[in-house]
Amino acid sequence: MTSFDFDTVVTRLGTDAKKWGAYPSDILPMWVADMDFAAPPSVIEALRHRVEHGVFGYCLPQDSLRTQIVDDMQKKYGWTISPDDIVFLPGVEPGFNMALKSETKPDDGLLIQTPVYNPILTAHRHWGLQSIEVPLRESNDGYSIDADALDEGMGRSRVFLFCNPHNPTGKVFTREELGHIAQSAIRHDVLVISDEIHCELLLDGRRHIPIASLSAEIADRTITLMSASKTYNIAGLKAAFAIVTNPQLRQRFNASRLGLVDSVNLFGLEAAHAAYMSASEWREALLSYLEGNRDYLQSEIARRFPKIRIVPAQSTYLAWLDCSALDLPEPPQAFFLNRGKVAFSAGSDFGAAYGNFIRLNFGCPRSLLVEGLDRMTAALESRI
Ligand SMILES: Cc1ncc(COP(=O)(O)O)c(C=O)c1O
Repeated sequence: MTSFDFDTVVTRLGTDAKKWGAYPSDILPMWVADMDFAAPPSVIEALRHRVEHGVFGYCLPQDSLRTQIVDDMQKKYGWTISPDDIVFLPGVEPGFNMALKSETKPDDGLLIQTPVYNPILTAHRHWGLQSIEVPLRESNDGYSIDADALDEGMGRSRVFLFCNPHNPTGKVFTREELGHIAQSAIRHDVLVISDEIHCELLLDGRRHIPIASLSAEIADRTITLMSASKTYNIAGLKAAFAIVTNPQLRQRFNASRLGLVDSVNLFGLEAAHAAYMSASEWREALLSYLEGNRDYLQSEIARRFPKIRIVPAQSTYLAWLDCSALDLPEPPQAFFLNRGKVAFSAGSDFGAAYGNFIRLNFGCPRSLLVEGLDRMTAALESRI
């Protein structure tokens, strides 16, 4: 395998990076979900080639990109779709909001599993929906679904806005859990919007299962959302896609663009195409680097901060840390920011019950992860 360099720190200060620009320059940012690595060399090369063409008018997604996605779904997940099932979008978040716009009416129930990515947690507010929160169950081995609570929540919901793999816990739902969710959705006539943006970031050889791939019946009521953005670190290029195999649902989904959700950025399409076509070795190398970071983080947390609870991520580059037992004088995000100059995402962003949690982004060179841990140590030592 070609070796790829994930250790070099690429300076992002002064490059309009949201992650690095949101705080003063002495703060180490370990919050928003993008990585501090350069994109795969083949993606950079494809973009360079496109830039050199020099004409950047409106564009259309190429048939070859559709075919590539169709082949990928078959090869990676055993899921048969057709090119027409794919709807290109400028982002996954616009995608789930389009779906909510098209499939709900005010006061309908919207089921979510907490803790969860903030735009999923708060999406109900845009459309006047009732938020039905069913927490994931946590144990030392990881997170699982509470099947009865989920089923009860489905009974009160029109739509389930699902996140698999799950942000912030890094949980990967098992085939059995997905089967339960699908059966429950079918039984209660619930539409599933499945945000699978992290689907290529499964660790330790796990395999992603799109919920719509379980059966034609669940596919019929599912809008699946995916993107190359997280895995290949091209989130700023704003390209994503939905897979909607039910033609009526797809037609309604497309109609809900309402002139607000525009076509996709030319460079985003180009980068996604190159990523899917020629960056699989890079992705393999990335996954093993992330596994190394996750394991290092896990062992350092246990060694340095035994009071912090962390469940190993099964996917993504996000770690969900319970800091309750530290008994801090302020919420942990504020504490580590003010005293350690390291920025995490606040647990309360992911649900009201999670104020004592932080989400740490370990998608960075190991040296930055070490620096982040040192800053946490300094913050905690400053308290004594
Ligand atoms: C679960 C999840 N969905 C959606 C998004 C945002 O996707 P996009 O930038 O394509 O709207 C993120 C970004 O962090 C995410 O973690």
